[in-house]
Amino acid sequence: MGSLALAVSLLVLFWGAHVSALTTVPPYAGRTIFSPPSSYLVPRTLYARTVLIPQDGADQNVLLATWENYSPEPPHVWFSIFRSVDLGQTWSPLSNVTDTQNGWGMRYQPFLYELTEAIGGFPAGTILCAGNSIPTNLSNTQIDVYASLDKGRTWKFASHVAAGGEAEPDNGLTPVWEPFIMTFNHQLVLFYSDQRDPLHGQKLRHAHQVTTNLLTWGAVVTDVAYPTFTDRPGMTTIAGLPNGQFIITYEYGGTGGFEIFYRLSSSPLTFNEAIGLVIQAVTGETPTSSPNVAWTPHGGVNGTIIVSANSHVGVFTNTALAAPGSPWTYVVANGTRSYAREVRVLPTNSQIMLTGGGTLGGTTNSVTGTILQL
Ligand SMILES: *[C@@H]1O[C@H](CO)[C@@H](O)[C@H](O)[C@H]1NC(C)=O
Ligand SMILES: *[C@@H]1O[C@H](CO)[C@@H](O)[C@H](O)[C@H]1NC(C)=O
Ligand SMILES: *[C@@H]1O[C@H](CO)[C@@H](O)[C@H](O)[C@H]1NC(C)=O
Ligand SMILES: *[C@@H]1O[C@H](CO)[C@@H](O)[C@H](O)[C@H]1NC(C)=O
Repeated sequence: MGSLALAVSLLVLFWGAHVSALTTVPPYAGRTIFSPPSSYLVPRTLYARTVLIPQDGADQNVLLATWENYSPEPPHVWFSIFRSVDLGQTWSPLSNVTDTQNGWGMRYQPFLYELTEAIGGFPAGTILCAGNSIPTNLSNTQIDVYASLDKGRTWKFASHVAAGGEAEPDNGLTPVWEPFIMTFNHQLVLFYSDQRDPLHGQKLRHAHQVTTNLLTWGAVVTDVAYPTFTDRPGMTTIAGLPNGQFIITYEYGGTGGFEIFYRLSSSPLTFNEAIGLVIQAVTGETPTSSPNVAWTPHGGVNGTIIVSANSHVGVFTNTALAAPGSPWTYVVANGTRSYAREVRVLPTNSQIMLTGGGTLGGTTNSVTGTILQL
């Protein structure tokens, strides 16, 4: 074959095999992302997260997914990275994020993020995977960040962020939990739940630390804290709104029911000064436990805020920027409940993907995705 013919056929093969630019998808429910083998330990999977990558080589709108992966040890647990080029209809394994630093494994609460701008030596488009590195005996918690310069195919350790004690939620222990990353004012902010509070002893709070280089992190700042340990405001997620405000959602144990509360602030770094408001749908549904929030421009001038919670298969929406007293609507979805289920806005903005790793207390969980058409 001449070199021109070879080049042409390679080009055709490349385009034919790899180019993908799907923007919308026929709604599906409970579609399997990963079904673990029966050798996996209870609950097998939990706590799924995704990232939507606008451009990966010739492919557009690529999804990566990861989750808590309860594989038998050894080897130590890792975060599996699966990839989809058809908006979650089919998935294939891409890579593993393995603990290269602590000898413990990457165990709980993964989080995926694509850098929207360069941070230190890491260019825009770098994919980050944060998570909780924890030994098999759960003696320590360590939030670490790994970075991928090739859209999730290979990973390198970037930095340690926060070190905590035993990985149990009990009063008096000092773990750190549940990283969440966003960019604000050209800095990267990593939010997490923190039981180490030096000022109030047995208190759980939301905290954050900031970095400008992804190598070193600033001081711990409190975002939401209550004086009583059992109030346990856990599980930070944050979304930016078109009026310049930010919304943070969290579960709050102080009322006994782990209802979902939110706060609004013009800076995601000063939520501690804002008041907490509870979410309840106009039809009476009250979401509880492990919330996740996202915002989409779809749905009118204010767009739509979407909140998922452990308690409901459907989601809670608000088209009035979550202004105090504004109505929340319960929107029915197919699929299933999941602990810490993620809300991801897809490219058309009118479709969202709900990604779950199964329920807390589940024994044969798997990782699934559901499309909700708003
Ligand atoms: C991830 O690691 C497991 C265990 O070592 C291995 O079986 C699997 O093939 C790896 N997956 C990828 C995509 O490299
Ligand atoms: C728990 O595991 C860690 C890491 O392997 C080890 O350093 C530590 O001694 C263990 N703790 C207990 C109480 O066994
Ligand atoms: C947009 O949000 C504002 C502020 O809450 C509210 O007053 C207004 O009614 C909302 N507009 C629509 C179309 O929902
Ligand atoms: C739920 O699934 C049914 C059957 O496929 C479908 O007709 C309906 O539109 C779906 N509802 C939502 C909210 O996606």
